[in-house]
Amino acid sequence: MQRRTLLIRLCQTIAATATAVLIIPIGRFISAPLFRKNKKSSGAQRVAKLTQLPVGTPTQVAIIGNRQDGWTLHPQAVIGKVWLIRRNEESEKPEDCQVDAYSAICPHLGCGINHSADDLQFVCPCHEAVFDDQGAVAKLDKPGYNNPSPRGMDTLDCQVVASESGNDLWVEVEYERFKIGLKDKVNL
Ligand code: FES
Repeated sequence: MQRRTLLIRLCQTIAATATAVLIIPIGRFISAPLFRKNKKSSGAQRVAKLTQLPVGTPTQVAIIGNRQDGWTLHPQAVIGKVWLIRRNEESEKPEDCQVDAYSAICPHLGCGINHSADDLQFVCPCHEAVFDDQGAVAKLDKPGYNNPSPRGMDTLDCQVVASESGNDLWVEVEYERFKIGLKDKVNL
């Protein structure tokens, strides 16, 4: 083998090795968002004081957390919205206070669900899905109406806890997201 050929082969080998060494970490970095798994839940989060919730009237609260858009991390961003309904008057014991939490994401195609104070029901503005005050699929008094939602509003784990000082009662919600368009509630 000529000296020139040997040199060319050596250069080619070095170039191939350097490329392999660089390509693996770069490929991992680029594809990381594709393989990032969603956490099932963001953990229990304090969203409101019990005294901020009127009995029987839905109140919407925001869930704050880290939001990832591709390679960009948005810390302390709104990652979801939840409807809370306090069901009873204040009680001495946190465990006797009943608050229900429902995801504000419509199970039909994922629009944000509003609440109509006039009709006392939840309404999705996109395709008119309506839900009663228990989050169940409801009917509209309209000829030919067919509720497009395949299931009721998604319930979330919710509890009332005493503050560290014992002076306040807080509502904690465990926020989760579920697949849309399905009859059953399935975690994303
Ligand atoms: S997305 Fe709510 S009714 Fe279609």
